[in-house]
Amino acid sequence: MADTLRLLGFILLLSAGLRVASAAIVVDIPQKQYKIARGDNVTLPCTFTPPPPAESTTLITWRAASDVPDSPMIDIISFVSPTAVKVTTKYKGRASLIYDLTKGKADLQLLRVTSADTRTYECHVNVVQDEEDGTPSDTANLIVLVAPSTPKCTIEGKTEYFQDITLTCKSEEGTPTPTYKWQSYDVLNNPRPNPPKATDLNGILSLYNISKDTSGFYVCTSTNEIKSAKCNLTMAVMAPSMSMASTAGIIGAAAGALLLLLVIIIICCCCRRRKNNKAEEYAMGTPEDGEFTDKDPEEEDEHVRSEQERPVKSADRRDVQDERSERSYDRRSDYDDRRDQNISQRDDRDDRYDDRRDRYNDRRDRNDDRQERYDDRRERNGDRQDRYDDRRDRNDDRRDRYDDHYDRYDDRHDRYDDRRDRHDDRYDSDRYSDRYDSRDRPPSVPPNKPRDPRN
Ligand SMILES: *[C@@H]1O[C@H](CO)[C@@H](O)[C@H](O)[C@H]1NC(C)=O
Ligand SMILES: *[C@@H]1O[C@H](CO)[C@@H](O)[C@H](O)[C@H]1NC(C)=O
Ligand SMILES: *[C@@H]1O[C@H](CO)[C@@H](O)[C@H](O)[C@H]1NC(C)=O
Repeated sequence: MADTLRLLGFILLLSAGLRVASAAIVVDIPQKQYKIARGDNVTLPCTFTPPPPAESTTLITWRAASDVPDSPMIDIISFVSPTAVKVTTKYKGRASLIYDLTKGKADLQLLRVTSADTRTYECHVNVVQDEEDGTPSDTANLIVLVAPSTPKCTIEGKTEYFQDITLTCKSEEGTPTPTYKWQSYDVLNNPRPNPPKATDLNGILSLYNISKDTSGFYVCTSTNEIKSAKCNLTMAVMAPSMSMASTAGIIGAAAGALLLLLVIIIICCCCRRRKNNKAEEYAMGTPEDGEFTDKDPEEEDEHVRSEQERPVKSADRRDVQDERSERSYDRRSDYDDRRDQNISQRDDRDDRYDDRRDRYNDRRDRNDDRQERYDDRRERNGDRQDRYDDRRDRNDDRRDRYDDHYDRYDDRHDRYDDRRDRHDDRYDSDRYSDRYDSRDRPPSVPPNKPRDPRN
């Protein structure tokens, strides 16, 4: 019994001696490192043992490492028992102490952490009763994580056959630094392995000797501890010959069109020149007297038309003639028969006369010129009359009739000329044609044509 009491007394003494010797409180932050996503609230735990006696004064302080290296730590929040809490201005509204002295708890809570909160923190507990034991404390690191920002996918190099290109992927921010991975998809959006020789390093995917098969989608995933983000690239690899061919095709098409235009212009010029040559040949070959070398194709058309009308008109005129002078009909027939030898010449001359008259009516500006030619022809008719006179020796009995008829023929022409002279100034070609047609219509007599005094 005495031994037991002695042992107890020894323990009491020992404990008293220990209490004096280890007056310092044991402070502990369970982990050396804490991670929290940016913007979240974080609580850094801190425990201390043994619980301070009720009569003692307990000081709790949380500090953070300064931005300046080798500088003293900066207070965040300090507590003095029983209830006084002081928060440094910098952390006001953000830092708080969650404490329970009896349970040895002194946690620090930080709200809405930022990347600037990534640093070393210290929990310090001091029981005033044990001043000689220093300041027990513990430290831990807080790492504020930042999710990777959406990366940017870019292509460096030409996406043409046989080229070497690189795809790059980069997130502007991310803590810790993100890692990158490229995944390739074919054009049908099915995943596929990257080409054998391709390398994917730090977000740079190198592709060598690309081909059409390289086309597809390339998705880069940027990942760190807390999150991942992606970017997406669509790649269409073209054959260099295709791009060259398209360029060459455009140039070639333009050149071809130009050439074609040139050829067309040349052909047109040749055609026109040939046509002109033809027209010149025609104009030089056809004129009866070589007087109309300057006429154009339209005039030639008129010439042809009047030639077609001519036989009818001369026949009609002859009918009118005949009906106006019934007596002369037989003679005229005789005469017609008789002049078989020169009828063609005569008709030809008449035709030419008609022809010129038509054209004269159409182009009255040449009137004077034609009149001169007409007069000239009349002189030639006079010559012909001389020839007729010569022939009269052989045709004595017919001469009078012939001369008579010929006189009337000339007479008619004279009267026609008179009429034409009277009306030329007020008749345009259409009106004249109407009048002319009505005159031709048998058996009516033109209203302004005077009757033959001999009938
Ligand atoms: C952080 O704490 C504040 C106050 O307690 C609260 O309003 C907010 O919702 C918390 N934020 C998160 C992300 O838990
Ligand atoms: C590139 O690929 C083509 C076939 O796609 C091959 O003929 C050529 O030799 C390759 N070039 C190189 C430099 O590997
Ligand atoms: C990539 O983009 C293409 C076209 O924009 C789409 O069809 C494909 O699904 C996308 N892939 C991913 C993984 O987002």
